[in-house]
Amino acid sequence: MKGIIFKLFEEYTENALGREVLTEAKRRCGLEKAIFLATSSYPDEQLFSLVKAVAEVAQKSVDEVLYECGKYAIKPLSEIYSPFFRAESAKDFLKKMDRVHVSMTRSLPDARPPRFTYREPSERELVIVYRSPRRLCTFAKGLIAGVAEYFQEQITVEEKHCMKQGHPACELHLTFGET
Ligand code: HEM
Repeated sequence: MKGIIFKLFEEYTENALGREVLTEAKRRCGLEKAIFLATSSYPDEQLFSLVKAVAEVAQKSVDEVLYECGKYAIKPLSEIYSPFFRAESAKDFLKKMDRVHVSMTRSLPDARPPRFTYREPSERELVIVYRSPRRLCTFAKGLIAGVAEYFQEQITVEEKHCMKQGHPACELHLTFGET
């Protein structure tokens, strides 16, 4: 996984949960000296163990930490990758995400970016089908909450199928505007 995700996770932990939480979590993972570079790649297992350790130290669930981190991450992402955020609406922005992820990881020979396919049952709805062996749909849902905040829109998300329950993909049903 690209270092940008590690860096965002560290930033979220430090700002939302406290520097001591990050220091203790990294120590528990044997990563006390690790410095993550945005454009480098690191083993997925390192991220998973760090997320688990942060959750333990902060006495939260792994899903809570992943969701909060996703929600937190949109603001810094919008500052680093501002051109991607030039979109008419949250829906238009989200529909570009498959292309964004493929292009961001193109330079990695063994890249396995998350993939998204879309269905639009109506103007106010978008179904995002998320596929990744990392099964980080909770992180995706946090990111979507951050996108809603960024575009000052209301988005309700219902996950109708989940890879963690044995489905081949996660299906996120989004409704835009008041429900
Ligand atoms: C312009 C905004 C965004 C940029 C630049 C971006 C970029 C990235 C990059 C570089 C990775 C690491 C991928 C890898 O190493 O294989 C990643 C991971 C991820 N991104 Fe984004 N992302 C953005 C927005 C979003 C949004 C809005 C969603 C949700 C729909 C999303 C969902 C995910 C998920 C779930 C992962 C974890 C990796 C996985 O599931 O395999 N991202 N993103």
